[in-house]
Amino acid sequence: MTTANVTWPRPAGRLELHLPTPALLDRVLDWRNRPEVTRWLLTTTVEPAAFRSAWLDGIADPKDHSAVALLDGEVVGTGSLWLSDAMGQSHVPDGPWRGAEAGIGYLIDPARAGAGLATDLARALLGLAFEELGVHRVTAGCFADNVGSWRVMEKLGMRREQHGVRDSWHAELGWIDGYTYAMLAEEWRAR
Ligand SMILES: CC(C)(COP(=O)(O)OP(=O)(O)OC[C@H]1O[C@@H](n2cnc3c(N)ncnc32)[C@H](O)[C@@H]1OP(=O)(O)O)[C@@H](O)C(=O)NCCC(=O)NCCS
Repeated sequence: MTTANVTWPRPAGRLELHLPTPALLDRVLDWRNRPEVTRWLLTTTVEPAAFRSAWLDGIADPKDHSAVALLDGEVVGTGSLWLSDAMGQSHVPDGPWRGAEAGIGYLIDPARAGAGLATDLARALLGLAFEELGVHRVTAGCFADNVGSWRVMEKLGMRREQHGVRDSWHAELGWIDGYTYAMLAEEWRAR
């Protein structure tokens, strides 16, 4: 992993990614708790003050590269990217596995869904992770029923590596299936 100096704002296809500010987060909160958004999330309804603090605290966290997505100046989404260790053997404590993975997540204002914006956003997160942060592998998870979410990952060439049978608990549906998708740096370079 490199200690890249990530610059903001940055382009993401038609979108522009910005570090969070209280004003931008207020625009996210206009739609963040709508049922169409929370239906397939793990962190469902958020409390506004806690949501703002968590996002603003992330700016100083070198492992957090999450951002607010704007389209023509309007807040339309959020993209999350967090660094973590890969699996690795402890007797090489500073081995290549340290900080070698990133997880990503994305939300789009339901009024803007279906226009390919999550794909633009997730592609930019993969580019940031592989090309600037230098990670070895990126992963993302979702409920299997969240077809829109895993379609985004498949369109970007990520691989379904895990189909967890009834491994994920949903408040209305109980135990249902979950997917984990992944991509390697060499796959990103070869795409
Ligand atoms: C899931 C979500 C990110 C998709 O955003 P989006 O901007 O609509 O995504 P895109 O337009 O880039 O791509 C979605 C793809 O899924 C398809 N899709 C969406 N819902 C679908 C459904 N119910 N059944 C089948 N396909 C579906 C779209 O047709 C599109 O595929 P295509 O380009 O091949 O036609 C967005 O709806 C969202 O934020 N949902 C709420 C939060 C969420 O669930 N986030 C993911 C957490 S894991």
